[in-house]
Order: sequence, then structure tokens, then C-alpha cells
Amino acid sequence: MNQIITVDGPAGSGKSAVSRLLAKRLDLLYLDTGAMYRAVALQAHRMGIDPDDGKALWEMCKNLDLDFVSDGDSPGIHINGEDVSLAIRRPEMDMLSSGISAVREVREAMTELQRNIGKTGGLVAEGRDMGTVVFPDADYKFFITATPEVRAERRYLERTGRGESISRDEVEIDLRKRDEQDKTRSIAPLRPAEDAVVIDTTTLGIGQVIEEILLKMGKTSIQK
Ligand code: DC
Repeated sequence: MNQIITVDGPAGSGKSAVSRLLAKRLDLLYLDTGAMYRAVALQAHRMGIDPDDGKALWEMCKNLDLDFVSDGDSPGIHINGEDVSLAIRRPEMDMLSSGISAVREVREAMTELQRNIGKTGGLVAEGRDMGTVVFPDADYKFFITATPEVRAERRYLERTGRGESISRDEVEIDLRKRDEQDKTRSIAPLRPAEDAVVIDTTTLGIGQVIEEILLKMGKTSIQK
């Protein structure tokens, strides 16, 4: 049986860094489902598809060749052979991906793809609905969160570190807007699964979060 660990949570909670490290520690594949929705949004934007046109989005998703590539410690994603790892992280892709991820047809196509990837081997699956919808029978479920202020601060440092010129307030406003959109959509909204372990990372470093997760899984940090 493939071991499935789900890690859900809002933007800036630290779930990506945690999921990546956890996958490495446990020798599992890291599945960044946010990157998948970002790739869908980028491709739809490039093709000029109306974000309300579910049928056209479904067609596009079905013909989309999404490929996860791993270059050492930095995972990337290709669309039809093109490396779009940086393009999907552009600031405008935040709201575009959040918007398109609320479309039923897009969610159906991505859920199917994610489950198929889960059939190929063990996973640390990161996203918003991994524990609630995509892998309801996962072996372990975690929901990583932090206060909006701390999450915005992390995003601000990440963005300015990449050379973007943006104010801290702008980052917090965008983050709160996206949280609201992801939490209130009708299909697969962002929320912890009933059986998820919730970890608040407001005052925790990544090492401490990993320790807590491994402890919940009955492992010590040195065991595999
Ligand atoms: O994790 P992220 O910020 O890269 O995700 C981008 C958007 O994709 C996020 O605002 C909501 C959507 N998303 C989703 O709806 N379901 C997932 N499992 C992962 C991401």
C-alpha cells in the first residue's frame, strides 16, 4: 500500500517547506497541487480562455501535459515540455490560480490526476483539499496554519527576497483576499479534515514542525 500523507493549509503557513522536507525525510514523492492549479491558470491565461468557461477549461485540462521535475532540492513543473516553474510564481498568478481552482471542471480534472499520481507510489500531498476530498483515506493528515500577520510577513520576505517591489500591507491584503476566496468557495473549500492534526506554526520553525509531525506519526527524527 502506498503511504499517503496530506498537508493542507493556507498560503504562507509554511506547508510547502514542511511538505518538501517531510517527503525527503520519508523517501516519498512530494506532490505540490498548488503548482498544478497555478499551471492550469497560466495556460488558460495564455490561451485566452474565459475563467468562467468550464467546458473550455475541462478540454484544456484534459490536453495539458503536466510534468513534475526535480532538480536536486528544487522541484519544478513543466507544461507541454516547457519549464514554467518561475512563471507560475509570478504575483498575478496567486489570484488567477485561486479563481480558476474554484471551477468545478478544473477541480474534477486535477483531482483525477492527483489520485492517479497517488496510485504510482507514496506521497506527501500538499494543497487545500488533500485530506478532505482528494485522499480522504490518507494514512496521516496534517493542517498547517499560522496567524495572517505572520503568514503575510513570510510572504513579504519571500517576495522582496526575489527582488519584487511590494509593500507589506499589500501582501497582507492579497493574502487575506485569497484566503477568503479559497475558504468560501462551494467546491472543496480550504478547511481541515475532521481527522487532521492541526499545527499552528506561528511561533515554530520548520525543524520544530517536522519534529511534531514525525512524533504524531510515531517516528523519531532519526528513524525513517
Ligand atoms: O498553494 P498555492 O498558493 O501555490 O496554491 C495556489 C492556489 O491554488 C490557491 O490559492 C488555491 C488553489 N489550490 C486549490 O484550490 N487546491 C489545492 N489542493 C491546491 C491549491
